[in-house]
Amino acid sequence: MNVGIIFGGKSAEHEVSIQSAKNIVEALDKNKFTPVLIGISKEGKWFLLEELPKTEVVESENELKIIPGGGSQFLTTDKKSVSVEVVFPVLHGPNGEDGTIQGLFRMADVPFVGSGLLGSAVAMDKQVSKKLLESKGISVAKYLSFEESANIDSIEKEFNYPVFVKPANLGSSVGVSKAKSRKDLKSALEKAFRYDNKVLVEEFIDGKEFECSVLGNRKPKASKVGEVRPEDFYSYEEKYSDKSQTELKIPADIDQSLENEIRKIAVEAFKVNMCKGMARIDFLVTGKRIYVNELNTIPGFTKISMYPKLWEVSGVDYQNLITELIELALENYKDKDELKTSY
Ligand SMILES: Nc1ncnc2c1ncn2[C@@H]1O[C@H](COP(=O)(O)OP(=O)(O)O)[C@@H](O)[C@H]1O
Ligand SMILES: [Mg+2]
Repeated sequence: MNVGIIFGGKSAEHEVSIQSAKNIVEALDKNKFTPVLIGISKEGKWFLLEELPKTEVVESENELKIIPGGGSQFLTTDKKSVSVEVVFPVLHGPNGEDGTIQGLFRMADVPFVGSGLLGSAVAMDKQVSKKLLESKGISVAKYLSFEESANIDSIEKEFNYPVFVKPANLGSSVGVSKAKSRKDLKSALEKAFRYDNKVLVEEFIDGKEFECSVLGNRKPKASKVGEVRPEDFYSYEEKYSDKSQTELKIPADIDQSLENEIRKIAVEAFKVNMCKGMARIDFLVTGKRIYVNELNTIPGFTKISMYPKLWEVSGVDYQNLITELIELALENYKDKDELKTSY
């Protein structure tokens, strides 16, 4: 079976995406699957590649075109025909993780790994996601959401400093700030509004950060729990710089009852956000409460990434994880394919 591995893209995580794709290609069970490498340049063009680039997808000869309804033949170049029975989008942030490319796969009529259009879009929008979590009684940090501009007085009336300011639809901590004063808040808002028209301001949760991996379609299962220990908060620099001070504890050193509770909430959060296949659920935990911070429907897959690492310590090795994700993609496609489309 040919598996289209799609990476790169118009995102701050272009390079991370290539690293993740590299690990997935290496781990792919070659007795069952053949990888087909599909790179998206920073300009958004698609190319069929012979090998993985080191850091960036650049223009090359085999530019791909998309054929709506093409199924396994939905991609083609001028010279070569391409066949992919299933695709694995290894993309992060806008256009990759937010439902857009998932809509395209549906139009193309090809099975794909991970959440569908709705689940992806819902989990991407931190405000919509929180509303759904709250509807299930899952705790989230108190927040105010603003469109186009924010009202400082209303923020100060609601919260004490520090507060967290973040674009509603991004990832990798891009545009996220911890504001400790009115002056900070003003520049944090300006920064966040440069990335999104919708911005969230949240109360600061002074607790620990835990993460849990979820895998499955209708009956998802949760992995063991990991802990992220940044010096201050888990910023873009802390996530990707060589000088990162952040320590990852996999698995976390926590008591069994807390771990069980987190795993239970992770599965509930996955379901209420309509996720499919995989998601990493991120938590902020104080002595009193477990808050869901956010869901990531296409988590990192690098060698040190939390999502595969947590499965590894839970007894699912990298290769089996990828196989299971592909099988889940086929199952989910079949589920949808069997539905009637007209009266
Ligand atoms: N309300 C909050 N209280 C405390 N820390 C927070 C809060 N919101 C975010 N953070 C910190 O900021 C980081 C990035 O925020 P997050 O909402 O996860 O954005 P992203 O989607 O960009 O990863 C988190 O990993 C955490 O360290
Ligand atoms: Mg995060």
